[in-house]
Amino acid sequence: MTDVSWKARELTVGELADRSGVAPSALRYYEREGLIASRRTAGNQRRYPRDTLRRVAFIRVSQRVGVPLSTIRAVLGLLPDGRTPTRADWERASPCWRDDLDARIRELEGLRDRLSDCIGCGCLSLDSCALANPRDVLGAEGAGPRRLTAR
Ligand code: FES
Repeated sequence: MTDVSWKARELTVGELADRSGVAPSALRYYEREGLIASRRTAGNQRRYPRDTLRRVAFIRVSQRVGVPLSTIRAVLGLLPDGRTPTRADWERASPCWRDDLDARIRELEGLRDRLSDCIGCGCLSLDSCALANPRDVLGAEGAGPRRLTAR
């Protein structure tokens, strides 16, 4: 294979970082997490198929709306032979992620509303502060200073 044809098909980690806007360290992390894959050259350098750019874009957009990496990995794992997500794949995944995003927005709105009571207060009371002890989860663990006894 000539150098020109190799360049047309594969990207170094630096090229992938430049083109995707994702740091090389994050790309290596994605690879460790099984989200993208590369082959190694004789000199042990990573080479990524060119369509990894689209896969990285899929990962970044998903992360931007708050989808955990484990969910992204599961969705990518559904694609046959490690195939890169297509427009149709995105159309199938994004409505589910919109529902998750809506749920998080509702949770944050509730948090914002409860924060109004806390502004200027500072008590962080486990008895009465909805932010310090949401839904009294510590109370369900039993009596006493649960956070101190857990240490
Ligand atoms: S800080 Fe006092 S109620 Fe939350």
